[in-house]
Amino acid sequence: MTDNTGSPVAIVTGSSRGIGLAVAHALAARGMRIVLNCSSERSLEGTQAQARAIASEHGTEAIAVAANVADADEAAALAAAALDAFGRIDVLVNNAGITRDGLAMRMAPEDFDAVVDVNLKGAFYCAKAVMRPMTKQRSGRIINMSSVSGVYGNPGQANYAASKAGVIGLTKALAKELARKGVTVNAIAPGFIETDMTAALSDDQKAHAQERIAAGRLGQPEDVAALAAFLASDEAAYITGQVICVDGGLSL
Ligand code: NAI
Repeated sequence: MTDNTGSPVAIVTGSSRGIGLAVAHALAARGMRIVLNCSSERSLEGTQAQARAIASEHGTEAIAVAANVADADEAAALAAAALDAFGRIDVLVNNAGITRDGLAMRMAPEDFDAVVDVNLKGAFYCAKAVMRPMTKQRSGRIINMSSVSGVYGNPGQANYAASKAGVIGLTKALAKELARKGVTVNAIAPGFIETDMTAALSDDQKAHAQERIAAGRLGQPEDVAALAAFLASDEAAYITGQVICVDGGLSL
C-alpha cells in the first residue's frame, strides 16, 4: 500500500469512454489520482491505455481496474484495488450505466433486471464499498449519475427511468446517513449528451431532442464532467442530497 497522505483519489466507474472518461480527465486535471474502471477483462487493455494517457497529460497517477459493478464482490474488489494502489479513496463517481430501451408492454423481465442491476444496484454496491474508508477519514464525495429520465420519466425507458429514479432515492438516503461523517452524496441528471449511448438514437430522434433543448444543442461529456469536478471539490462541502440537471434547459 502506498502512502495515504498524497493527493486525493477518485474512482470513476464505467470510465473507458463517454461521460466517465471525461469525468476522469476533469478530476485528474484538478490533481486527483484516478482509478478508471471497465466492466470486464476484455476492455482492460484499452482502459489501461486511457489511464496512461491521463497520467501523462495531467501529471498524476492513474490505474485501470476491470470490475462489473453489478456484482457486489467485484464492486468491493474495485474499492480494494484503489486502496491497495493509493491507500485512500476520496471520491466515487457512480457513472457506469446501460440502456435496454423498449415499450414496457413488450419489455422482457431480463431487460428490466439488467438495467436495474447495473445502474442502481451497481451504484449501491460501489457506494457501500467506499463508505468505510470515507467515514474513517471523515471526508468523501459520492457522485451518482442519474438522468432527466429518472426525474421526469421517458417513454420506452421504464427500466432505465426506474433505475435512475432509484439512484435519486439512494442519493438522498445516503446523504442523510453520511452527512455527519463528512461525506456528501449528490446526483447529476444529464439530458442528451453526445456519447456512444446516444449515438444509437436515429437522426429523427436526435433532431426531436434538439428541438426540446433550450440551448439548441446536445450536451458534451465535458459539460457533465465540469459539475462532477465541482461536486468533488472542497468548495462543495455543504452541498449534499441534491439532484442537479445538466441538460441545456431540456427539463424546463
Ligand atoms: P456510455 O455507454 O458511453 O458509457 C457507459 C460506460 O459504462 C461504458 O464505459 C460501459 O462499459 C460502462 N459499463 C456498463 N456496464 C458496466 C458494468 N456492469 N460495470 C462497469 N462498467 C460498466 O454512456 P455515457 O453516455 O457515457 O453514460 C454515462 C452515464 O451517464 C450512464 O450512467 C448513463 O446512464 C448516464 N447518462 C447519459 C446520458 C447521455 O445522454 N449520454 C443522459 C443521462 C444519463
